[in-house]
Amino acid sequence: MSVHQSVVADFAAVVAAARSLVLETASQAIAERGTFRLALSGGSTPKALYEQFADSAADWAHWQIFWGDERYVPNDHPDSNERMARQAWLNRVPIPAEQIHPLPTQSADPWQDAAIAEADLRRAFQVSEEDWPVFDLILLGLGDDGHTASLFPRTAALDEQTRLVTVGDRDGQPRLTFTAPLINRARTVVFLVSGAAKQEALQRALAAEGDSQQTPARLIQPAGQLYWLLDRDAAALL
Ligand code: 6PG
Repeated sequence: MSVHQSVVADFAAVVAAARSLVLETASQAIAERGTFRLALSGGSTPKALYEQFADSAADWAHWQIFWGDERYVPNDHPDSNERMARQAWLNRVPIPAEQIHPLPTQSADPWQDAAIAEADLRRAFQVSEEDWPVFDLILLGLGDDGHTASLFPRTAALDEQTRLVTVGDRDGQPRLTFTAPLINRARTVVFLVSGAAKQEALQRALAAEGDSQQTPARLIQPAGQLYWLLDRDAAALL
């Protein structure tokens, strides 16, 4: 694992750094493998990044979009990560519809939808039951409680070592989430962290020692490249 930590002035600089990194990684992936497979984070931080992608020039025909986690709501619900990314970006660029792979939330049973998502991932990556999909880049945020994706503190999802997608639990509300082992197989993982509210969680996430049950972001130790794109407010305790 190669860890890159960048502290920049403010939120706008975090977004600008993330935009450059993702677009560069995409160009390289497409040149090397003919496709760029990206998993999106939800929440509020990445929305500005997605809006900037909408105004960017890229080889969209070779991008494949996935989501690293999803609230268990219909995809037209205000809380839907899919809805946010489509409105901010995907509805405004020519990525072929069949190359956009939302996490399904229609079956009323999150475990059934997690299994459907897992089958979709294996099909999209053309991998068998024994192999793991390898994303080119996975975007992640950091909650002020130290969660990432929908891997929340002291929940069963943190211990999942064989599934690709599992059911997360935010205060009793189900979520679909990539598992830590799936995230850790990505070539590049990028955390976007902005704002003073994240100071304590970030300090715990980056400390030499710590409890990943308390701070699930500590589970993210990819074999490839790990980027922490931080603004000064978030990084004040480092
Ligand atoms: C979600 C995200 C979640 C998010 C963090 C940080 O579905 O909400 O995937 O893990 O990244 O909660 O959220 P903010 O970026 O909004 O602070």
